[in-house]
Amino acid sequence: MDWEKLVQAAWEARENAYSPYSNFQVGAALLAEDGRVFSGCNVENISYGLTNCAERVAIGAAVAAGVRRFVAVAVVADTAVPISPCGACRQVLAEFSVKRVLLVNRTERVEFCLDDLLPRASTGILDRPE
Ligand code: THU
Repeated sequence: MDWEKLVQAAWEARENAYSPYSNFQVGAALLAEDGRVFSGCNVENISYGLTNCAERVAIGAAVAAGVRRFVAVAVVADTAVPISPCGACRQVLAEFSVKRVLLVNRTERVEFCLDDLLPRASTGILDRPE
């Protein structure tokens, strides 16, 4: 698992964050099963509610490129402790079974299983045959 490549891509994507309302920049990079990397940054909106988080922008970029199978995601921000995805992003990561999640700040990296961040995501409405 080449986290280095993914973390670097996430920091680079963060440079493009559009966050005039929060002034908080986030980058995310997804590793696809085919080895390709898709990245995203947060894209805010004056309505606030229409803001897209970096994780969901990365998923959208990959899906728009025809890619739906992923291995991992790295999420980076300049926070005191590594950032953690919001509930909506956890749900969207679960949709595409992004199992490994690396949360990163300037000094630390913490790895989680998506199952721990969103328990029982695959039961109920996401309970489908593989
Ligand atoms: N944000 C993300 O992009 N990803 C996260 O994991 C947490 C929050 C964004 C949304 C908003 O633009 C800003 O950070 C403040 O919440």
